[in-house]
Amino acid sequence: MDIDRYERLWIMLSAAVLLSLFLALVYSVYALDIRLVDDAGQVDPATAAQTPPFDEPGVYQEGPGRYRVVMVARAWSFQPAEVRVPAGSDVTFQVTSLDVIHGFRVPYTTINQMLIPGQVSEFRFRFAEPGEHYLFCHEYCGVGHHTMQGRIVVETAATGAR
Ligand code: CUA
Repeated sequence: MDIDRYERLWIMLSAAVLLSLFLALVYSVYALDIRLVDDAGQVDPATAAQTPPFDEPGVYQEGPGRYRVVMVARAWSFQPAEVRVPAGSDVTFQVTSLDVIHGFRVPYTTINQMLIPGQVSEFRFRFAEPGEHYLFCHEYCGVGHHTMQGRIVVETAATGAR
């Protein structure tokens, strides 16, 4: 039996595993746009509701096809609970929690975020197709956790944002 052959086989197998994991990582970042969050700043949860931009939650147009959604989460609601953007929009969400840890999950998108009191969470998503997205809290936050939800309505581009 040729021992060297098995040795070579294992080395090649190990290299193939490393290479495929690396390619999966590159694919997730550049093709699926899955990123780790950057440091988007801190805000005191006790005064966040009076501190810009969180004193005026809502949808703000930042440029052609670019929107910023400022949102606050508290037990057990999101404010605003409904967001409307035109299809094809590049949306930056800027969210914080006013009390305990909440979640921010939009199924069938890459939006899956933890909202930590004191921490500003910022993440982007491009809503290409018109339709409605369900948004919900996916970190257990108390007896009303299961009622904590919202909607993202992606309107046909002609309708425009409200
Ligand atoms: Cu907020 Cu669960």
